[in-house]
Amino acid sequence: MAYQPLEKLHQLQEGYRRIFKVAGRDLLLLHEEGRTYLMTNRCPHMDAPLHKASVAAGVLRCPVHGIEFDLRTGEALDAPPGCVGPLEFIPLIYEGNTVGIEV
Ligand code: FES
Repeated sequence: MAYQPLEKLHQLQEGYRRIFKVAGRDLLLLHEEGRTYLMTNRCPHMDAPLHKASVAAGVLRCPVHGIEFDLRTGEALDAPPGCVGPLEFIPLIYEGNTVGIEV
C-alpha cells in the first residue's frame, strides 16, 4: 500500500468538487458544509455519475432519479428499504498539506 495524494488542503473550499481516476476507479472528492468526502463517482441506484449531484443540509441528491443520500452515513433516505445500497465512501488520509488515499 502506498499513499497517493489527491489534493492540497487549501483547495478544499466550500463547494469543491473534483473527479479522479485511481486504479481504474472513478472517484469523487467533494467538500460541503465544512466536511470532505471521497466516494466512488457512481450512484448506488443505477451507476449515474454523482459529480453533478446537489448537496444541501448534509443530503446529496442524485441528478438522475433524485434519490437522496445522507452524506454522513451514505444511506439512501427516500428509497424503499433494501432497494438502493449506500454511497461507497473511501477513507481519506491526511498527510502534510495534502489529502489522499492508500492504493
Ligand atoms: S441513478 Fe441515481 S437515483 Fe437513479
